[in-house]
Amino acid sequence: MPKAIISGMGMYIPEKVYDNAYMESIVDTNDEWIVRRTGIKERHASAPDEYTTDMATVAARNAIADAGLTPEDIDLIMLATVTPDYFTPACACVVQGNIGAVNAAAFDYNAACSSFITGLVTANQFIENGCYKHILIICADCLTKATDYKDRATCVLFGDAAGAAVISAADNAAGILASEIGADGTGAKFITSLAFRNDEDEIEKRVSGRKDTIWMAGQSVMKFAVKAMADSSNRVLEKAGLTYDDIKLVIPHQANYRIVDSAIKRMGVEKEKVFLHLEKFGNTSASCIPVALCEAVQQGIIERGDRIILVGFGGGLTWGAALLEF
Ligand code: UT7
Repeated sequence: MPKAIISGMGMYIPEKVYDNAYMESIVDTNDEWIVRRTGIKERHASAPDEYTTDMATVAARNAIADAGLTPEDIDLIMLATVTPDYFTPACACVVQGNIGAVNAAAFDYNAACSSFITGLVTANQFIENGCYKHILIICADCLTKATDYKDRATCVLFGDAAGAAVISAADNAAGILASEIGADGTGAKFITSLAFRNDEDEIEKRVSGRKDTIWMAGQSVMKFAVKAMADSSNRVLEKAGLTYDDIKLVIPHQANYRIVDSAIKRMGVEKEKVFLHLEKFGNTSASCIPVALCEAVQQGIIERGDRIILVGFGGGLTWGAALLEF
């Protein structure tokens, strides 16, 4: 049976930077509060005329080149976003057209910040059953376009980015050793951005009154996130019959350094084994994990054969973890 390996990684980060001084200039906040409560110093913002598919297209091209492939080699494109350019067409189809992946099926999906792991687990099924050889997973979001810049509790958190990975079939590879994904819809109300619904109570929560901005019950999400990430990571480790001594790097979803700190204490893994880029990018939703993975590879922190754990949580509420041999 072929195994799924990550054969290429790509990313895109928009140029414009919103540092904490800029946040101080638009809402009642300060650098000390933001750094102490979140760990974030800067976040990047897409240009006014730059959208999710634009960022996704660059990340996709980079990932395909990194895999040593051409767009024609891609069999399927799965794109995760909570900030699509359109309700229809799917962003995945737009990217397919942009890059000329003429042989690829394409669809969007949404497991919020847990999307990269959800995509990986799904791609793994297509690879192991022999259906596809090369699958492109793209996670891309323009969260700054869905941010309520009058709400200091959320606007300091979010940034824009895109991350992509080519998942390829390989013989004689270990691939994904253990994984899980999960959801708890009773927590759906904790992170929201409205499409057609006009729920008055939801609109009232938004300082700007713009219903398509992200509102979040920060404390409730934080409580869920610590347990979800730690327990999920521990479960995949146990499933694979390994311990954290066997793991080179843990890449968690990066929403808030306090969440990561508490989660890794609960896991029992050393800080040195955890990759963080939160300080410079903020919370970039689903893109966090693939961008962090891409950086870890580019910086030589992980190499082929290293065992890594990817673990995340997000709106939905959702969570997931994957233990793989890179
Ligand atoms: O990607 C997945 C989704 N997102 C997350 O995972 C985020 C999860 N939650 C969090 O990261 C945290 O809950 C936040 C960073 C959003 C907030 O931190 P907190 O420690 O939960 O703060 P809080 O909401 O309990 O607010 C504490 C105080 C409040 O003031 P009072 O009522 O104590 O006077 C807030 O009004 O901090 C105030 N506050 C701020 N002060 C300065 C909230 N935001 C700010 C701000 N600057 N930006």
